[in-house]
Amino acid sequence: MRESGGAARHYRNFTLLVSEKRCNFRAAQSTIMQTLYDQLGGEQKVRELADAFYDVMDTNERAKTIRALHPKNLDASREKFFMFLSGWLGGPPLYVNHFGHPRLRARHLPFPIGEKERDEWMLCMREAMNRVGLNDLVKAQLEGAFFRTADFMRNQG
Ligand code: HEM
Repeated sequence: MRESGGAARHYRNFTLLVSEKRCNFRAAQSTIMQTLYDQLGGEQKVRELADAFYDVMDTNERAKTIRALHPKNLDASREKFFMFLSGWLGGPPLYVNHFGHPRLRARHLPFPIGEKERDEWMLCMREAMNRVGLNDLVKAQLEGAFFRTADFMRNQG
């Protein structure tokens, strides 16, 4: 009897210890984890990135297929992309507040997007990230996330 009561108490203490450790771990995580938005350098850097992206698209011959899909004047594209990136990177959800859910894939359906277009888009983004001078760790994380999103936009090829 005493044996099993002792074992139960030990087990209870053990689970308490484990859940306490989990809580501490979560608390520690939330204090050391920063959003990509903050790691990047906040609003100004995100705006720089969106502008650099469209500057590259507008001038690099190797992005001419996707340039042709965009309007002649890129002012609205820059602003919308900045607003989208702000929320997507964990900062203020400017796009959602103004336009609602981005429904990115649906919005891209009218445009033919295959591997070529995806790769041109990534070329512009890589060059933009180099121009604004991101640290290597942030750049690597962003590159992976951008690639997965760009690949998800493919509606052909
Ligand atoms: C894969 C290749 C892609 C192509 C060819 C492409 C092309 C386009 C085009 C033609 C437009 C409409 C013109 C405009 O509003 O500027 C557009 C809008 C937009 N794209 Fe892309 N896009 C691509 C990938 C992406 C990715 C990966 C993201 C996000 C990470 C993105 C975010 C947006 C946003 C936020 C808009 C504005 C949507 C709106 O009208 O409210 N696009 N894109």
